[in-house]
Amino acid sequence: MSTVIVVGTQWGDEGKGKIVDLLTEYADVIVRFQGGNNAGHTLVVDGEKFIFHLIPSGILYEEKLCLIGNGVVLDPVVLIEELESLEAKSIRVGPERLKISANTHVIMPYHKALDHAREAAKAKGKKIGTTGRGIGPCYEDKIVRNGIKITDLMDSGLFREKLEDNIKEKNFILSKMLGAKTLDVESIYSEYQEYAQRLAPYVDNVSVIIDRARSASKNILFEGAQGTHLDIDHGTYPFVTSSNTIAGGACCGAGVGPSKIDKVVGICKAYTTRVGEGPFPTEIEGEAGDYMQEKGAEFGATTGRRRRCGWLDGVVLKDSVRLNGLDGLAITKLDVLSGLDPLQFCTEYELRGQFIQSMPANIREVENVSPVYDSLKGWDEDLSKAGSLDDLPDPARDYLRKIEDLAGVPIVLVSVGPERHETVMLQNPFEP
Ligand code: GDP
Ligand code: IMO
Ligand code: MG
Repeated sequence: MSTVIVVGTQWGDEGKGKIVDLLTEYADVIVRFQGGNNAGHTLVVDGEKFIFHLIPSGILYEEKLCLIGNGVVLDPVVLIEELESLEAKSIRVGPERLKISANTHVIMPYHKALDHAREAAKAKGKKIGTTGRGIGPCYEDKIVRNGIKITDLMDSGLFREKLEDNIKEKNFILSKMLGAKTLDVESIYSEYQEYAQRLAPYVDNVSVIIDRARSASKNILFEGAQGTHLDIDHGTYPFVTSSNTIAGGACCGAGVGPSKIDKVVGICKAYTTRVGEGPFPTEIEGEAGDYMQEKGAEFGATTGRRRRCGWLDGVVLKDSVRLNGLDGLAITKLDVLSGLDPLQFCTEYELRGQFIQSMPANIREVENVSPVYDSLKGWDEDLSKAGSLDDLPDPARDYLRKIEDLAGVPIVLVSVGPERHETVMLQNPFEP
């Protein structure tokens, strides 16, 4: 029995979906614990592409149980769409395969309206570049204790009361402060009553289910969303998401104690990408960045935005090792680097004549760091057929060794293409 957390080590889109799908073969239960449908996790199975925003990426294995923890913010419209699109592919996801924590907060139409109106009202340079999915406003309501939990949706009296209070406040903000359209209680009430009926069979106590699974010696896989440097506390604030994306988030976001976690695996893209606004020290504005963007097909899986690309950042990586307590790294998209020579990587930052090895807390300082680069020889070979490290050209192996040196933790897996079989597994995290 083993409990493994998978998290992104950079700014999201590291390939968590592919790795979670791959590791699901060894797991019995797969749990999302934070974020919402701002996530876009891509799986490619036998040439067919699936993008999941809310449903855990383990869902394609029929015999596995998928859980949505209390730390997630859930848009019922999106969940129902995902269930229906799976059904259209003859994958029926009934309540025996998917459970939602009764404590999960619901993304309401006013959260999406506020997300859009606030971003639109911000001046250039101040916009966060959110996904517009209502994530921040929903977490905000949870923290100020105005939120609507999915269990509240199932209680029509309580739901109406909470909805009326919220709409009163939100309509004031939308109309008087943001010049945006107001919303109507009745139409939202009846729409969400239908969602309540549809989703009621899925609602359960996720913490208890995980505990029982552990007692029955099941393997449990926690699927992080976003990435460490988008963490609300430890990321490049305010250019972050609104949840704790680091491994510790799995405990509070699913209702499991830290002593019950066995391993934490960090997913690290062989280069760096960022979608949305915010500082990105190793960003490349030029040919090598365009090469990564095109060869890596770096477009947001949720918003379709072009992802900004840059060299691997050792400062970002070392911070992630510490913040998540990483036991191992899964390196993804190594194949994308074929054809680039030399390969640069950042070892530390320089800030006003000082060398620093971790991300500064002050955003103005983050904006002003200069990466210190080292470089290695590149390679031209196509890596996608590599079945073991021995199949990789020497420079690719040197590059992996350098990443291990920078991080100080071992690489447990190397991904060389989007498909399940395009993977070199060095150490299965579910095995001791
Ligand atoms: P996530 O949000 O971390 O799950 O990552 P995304 O799905 O948003 O973005 C990762 C993209 O890279 C997806 O299109 C994956 O299919 C693709 N991908 C994952 N691993 C590899 C890999 O090793 N090589 C290549 N070329 N593509 C990969
Ligand atoms: P996955 O799970 C990459 C970014 C947005 C924006 C910031 C805040 O696919 O890796 P939000 O809508 O969360 O309030 O936006 O966070 N962002 C992501 N970037 N991958 C993601 O998820 C992201 N989820 C949010 O672009 O900069
Ligand atoms: Mg993504």
